[in-house]
Amino acid sequence: MSKFLNIFAPSLGGAALVAGLAYGVSTRDYRAAEADLAMAQSDRALAQVEAATARIAELEAAATAATDAQGAAEAELASLRDQMAARDSAPRAMSVSTQGASAPGPFGLGRDALPEEVAAWNIDVLPDGTGLPVGSGDVWTGDEVFAEHCASCHGDFAEGRGNWPKLAGGQGTLDHKDPLKTVGSYWPYLSTTFDYVRRSMPFGNAQSLSDDDVYAIVAYILYSNDLVDDDFVLSNETFLDVEMPNAEGFIIDDRDTAEAHFWTEPCMENCKDAVEITMRAAVLDVTPEEEGAEEATMDSGTEAATEAPAEEASASEPAPAGDAAPAIDMALASEGEDVFKKCKSCHQVGDGAKNRTGPVLNGVVGAVIGHVDGFKYSNDMAALGEEGKVWTEEELSKFLEKPKGYLSKTKMSFAGLRKEDDRKAVIEYLKTFN
Ligand code: HEC
Ligand code: HEC
Repeated sequence: MSKFLNIFAPSLGGAALVAGLAYGVSTRDYRAAEADLAMAQSDRALAQVEAATARIAELEAAATAATDAQGAAEAELASLRDQMAARDSAPRAMSVSTQGASAPGPFGLGRDALPEEVAAWNIDVLPDGTGLPVGSGDVWTGDEVFAEHCASCHGDFAEGRGNWPKLAGGQGTLDHKDPLKTVGSYWPYLSTTFDYVRRSMPFGNAQSLSDDDVYAIVAYILYSNDLVDDDFVLSNETFLDVEMPNAEGFIIDDRDTAEAHFWTEPCMENCKDAVEITMRAAVLDVTPEEEGAEEATMDSGTEAATEAPAEEASASEPAPAGDAAPAIDMALASEGEDVFKKCKSCHQVGDGAKNRTGPVLNGVVGAVIGHVDGFKYSNDMAALGEEGKVWTEEELSKFLEKPKGYLSKTKMSFAGLRKEDDRKAVIEYLKTFN
């Protein structure tokens, strides 16, 4: 066999097998296949019924088990509650002094910290010396310890090496543009130095020094800053004798008294009277004419298109008996549509119209004044409606001519339609929404 066939023989065999299968399937009797399928389906249905029955039995068993489990859980919960109540009422015997031998908590987790553990964390030292450990160290010991543990970064004389912090010098530079802030020039409390060194230095090997070594190092840093003589011994007893040059250089935060007069109860709700829009820019004619005109023609174009079929429909419908709707002058109504542009900023008409600044005006002609549900009319307009007064075309015309003249306290901030023709037209237009 050539190399070529060696490679392709297996895949050729596979292809032959697929072709053979396809042949077999296609030549099987179709009817027989159908019958097989039906058998198989009914078998499967039977099997499904059996499986379902078994599952129901299983679920019932599970439900019983669950009820039992719930009972058990409730009992356990009750007993836990009892235990907790008992603990709460018992005197608090648990404290650090029980040496961690105390009983585990209600959930069996954790133990009280040992006094040694608390002490290991509780190492802060306050400016008044609170928290200082008993101990002492002199400048010369400090010089040695410092040389061994600190000088590689902070320099032999605490003057700093490279970019490592300087711990000495800088006195009198605090008011310079680039002040040098060191323990000597800037730090107000010696306790900070002690605490810092003890807590976090030497860098990378924090808390490896004895308390006496820390006292000695701090004494040396003071000496490097010319704050103590070379025979000085720093201890928990001499600690407060040291005067830090910048101790008075800080201002205690007195904002809670000094600035108290700025503090008033801030307003968090209803802080402003409601803002009400009384006029639209478009109505006030402060928007450019042309854009508006363009929009308006587009608007009227689409509205006219949607209106036409509706009007045809109503024309073909028989008018309701007895109260025949007066015919509408469509030419006049379409002039009215143009006038209505002045109303549009506050009023909507047509399908889906919503109350805006003004109420929906569908069906307003001939309606009782203030009839739109959900619109908050001025008291005076609402009162007219309560009297049963109706928007006849005549009343509408009077109102639209000068709304404030008609009803001095109306909420409708609109100057009015001077021209009688405009009023007639817009009323005719409104009638098309009756
Ligand atoms: C490996 C370098 C290194 C060594 C060693 C080292 N320090 Fe520092 N030290 C630093 C660095 C870095 C900082 C600044 C850390 C920071 O700003 O978070 C610093 C900050 C300090 C400061 C505060 C300086 C300031 O004005 O903010 C003091 C004090 C200090 N170290 C003391 C010591 C003492 C004492 C030792 C020896 C026991 C020591 N350091 C050993 C690197 C070192
Ligand atoms: C600046 C907004 C604004 C404009 C512009 C405006 N209206 Fe009004 N309109 C209102 C408000 C608000 C009311 C409710 C008055 C009241 O409660 O006192 C109202 C009420 C009405 C009513 C009474 C409705 C009812 O349900 O009783 C009619 C009719 C009316 N307007 C028609 C018009 C027409 C027509 C125009 C345009 C020519 C127009 N309005 C322009 C705000 C406006």
